[in-house]
Amino acid sequence: MEVTRNTIIKDLIESHPETLAVFKKYNLVIAGGVRGPNEPIAFFAKAHEVDYDTLVKELNEAIEKGGGEHIEIPKLEEDKIYEKFVKTALILTLTVGVTFGAIILSYIAIKLNSNSIYYALIQAHGHAQLFGWVGLCVMGFAFYIIPRVKNTELKHRNLANICYGFILAGIILITLLQSIPLRSIKFLLPVSAILEVIAICIFAFIIFRTIFASKEKVGIFDKFFKAGIVWLLISTFINLGMIFYLYKQATYEIPRAVFSPFVHLYLFGFVFMFVFAINIRTVFAFLDIKPVRERAVNLTFWVLNISVPIYFLAHMFADGSIIALRLTQVIVFPIAFAIISFIYGLRIFERSTRELQDVVMDRSYAKTIRTAYLWLIVTTGILIIIPFLGQGSDVQRQFHGSLNHAATVGFITMMIIGYASKMIPTFKGIDMYSLKLSNTTFILLNTGCFLRVFSQILVGTSGGKPVFYAVMGSSGWFELAALGIFGYNLWKTMNATQEIKGKVAESEKLTEVTKDTKVFDVVDQYPDTLQIFLDFGFSQMANPVMRKTMGRVASIEMATKMHNVDMDKFLSALNDKITAKRQKTF
Ligand code: HEM
Repeated sequence: MEVTRNTIIKDLIESHPETLAVFKKYNLVIAGGVRGPNEPIAFFAKAHEVDYDTLVKELNEAIEKGGGEHIEIPKLEEDKIYEKFVKTALILTLTVGVTFGAIILSYIAIKLNSNSIYYALIQAHGHAQLFGWVGLCVMGFAFYIIPRVKNTELKHRNLANICYGFILAGIILITLLQSIPLRSIKFLLPVSAILEVIAICIFAFIIFRTIFASKEKVGIFDKFFKAGIVWLLISTFINLGMIFYLYKQATYEIPRAVFSPFVHLYLFGFVFMFVFAINIRTVFAFLDIKPVRERAVNLTFWVLNISVPIYFLAHMFADGSIIALRLTQVIVFPIAFAIISFIYGLRIFERSTRELQDVVMDRSYAKTIRTAYLWLIVTTGILIIIPFLGQGSDVQRQFHGSLNHAATVGFITMMIIGYASKMIPTFKGIDMYSLKLSNTTFILLNTGCFLRVFSQILVGTSGGKPVFYAVMGSSGWFELAALGIFGYNLWKTMNATQEIKGKVAESEKLTEVTKDTKVFDVVDQYPDTLQIFLDFGFSQMANPVMRKTMGRVASIEMATKMHNVDMDKFLSALNDKITAKRQKTF
């Protein structure tokens, strides 16, 4: 098999199992399910910072040396550690998260009053989304990705299940008990917060042990992971304090002056640090851009980690202290600077290096990752304005809700969707179930988020005009539809088993391509014919999903007719390739 930049690793491993040793040497195959990564070699080399030419040279040497047909394909283990975390996060956000949020929002819109909802309900929604949707997604991905970027095994893997059980019990109990004032079982509130603390400590222990066990050189992203975990630990202990306050005071509402800054400490501290760490390590390959500007990214690290605790404390005391209020008006600028410095450092809006322009792969996730950063810029803009809108005023309250939403849905949820759509098919070595559904999610989520963020601002600045309340009230249903479709698409992908495509026995393989041959069969049985399709202008063959769908129905005759390609010329190019291949094999 000729190794080209577009050679799919799992196809190469299947044709030449002896190449597995080369990939293992570069630790390049521990993702991708039982057959290995469904990724073009050129992309994987860039993503893993391995020199492409050296890798291909070693692969060809391994193939020359051969292992021959008798080599058994070693069964690669599919690591599913992330799956229950991600599936549970989807269930939580589609029940007590987004659905609950959309109902609350419609109720507020009907009542034309943001104070018409019992704040404990909003806090229950907030907790379920912060720890349930975002927290569980980050934990699932971290358990899978961190050992791979650190080229080591996940330590204490068996503890991950305990971590899962405790965090889930804690989230469900707090969400239920804060929403339904059942005095008889109120004692379960502190119990649930303790369960969450234990779970987060186990998570931190596993991740720290795994990072410190790695012999890999320390990357600039490392400290972002570590800082993220420290902020998660701090947030969880603050949460414990808030829940004990509820229990002690026999009340169900955490004071807004504590809860709202806590939300931002969780988001700017834990979640931003984790997202930034993953972006630093992967975005340069995912978007085919230059590696990060280390100085700008380092500046973000220090400025953000110093500013976040000051932001938290200043907001907690802003209602009662003019010094704290002034501090809230000052501290937003270093935070905004840190975020903009990161966007500059990450080069997220810069042109592609075009290093991978010839590489055939699905890039639909790229727009989602870039759009998430557009929402982060919107978040930063609102963040700077809020402290100057009159402490405790309704307009400030509306801008606050808008900020939360731009950050949690526009940036974080969009990022989760972008990365899950890229990473989970990679984890499994297959394609995303439906690109069409991915694009529908993208449009619906951005529509809903846009309507929410800007209509809530207009509710504040217009003194509560009903039309803006109505738009705000409808926005949650767009987002629910978006996350529902995404959930279905991702669930189908996670449940898809990588078909162990029995090697089409040489005797059964096509010996000649005719006008009636299905496009899919040609590329499936002779992967290096893919380049010929591309050379003849069948660019959509670049898309693995199109190959699998359209390719199964389209015959060579149909395809050449559709694209106005000289069929005879195309057929002879394909058959020359196949004949050459078969001569080599036999
Ligand atoms: C996607 C659909 C969502 C809808 C329809 C929704 C709806 C709402 C509503 C109506 C409120 C109360 C009003 C306000 O504070 O402005 C609220 C507050 C909140 N939401 Fe959501 N939300 C959604 C997503 C999220 C996500 C993804 C997160 C977190 C990851 C989240 C976390 C919160 C928090 C923490 C609060 C309370 C903020 C505070 O009081 O300081 N929400 N949400």
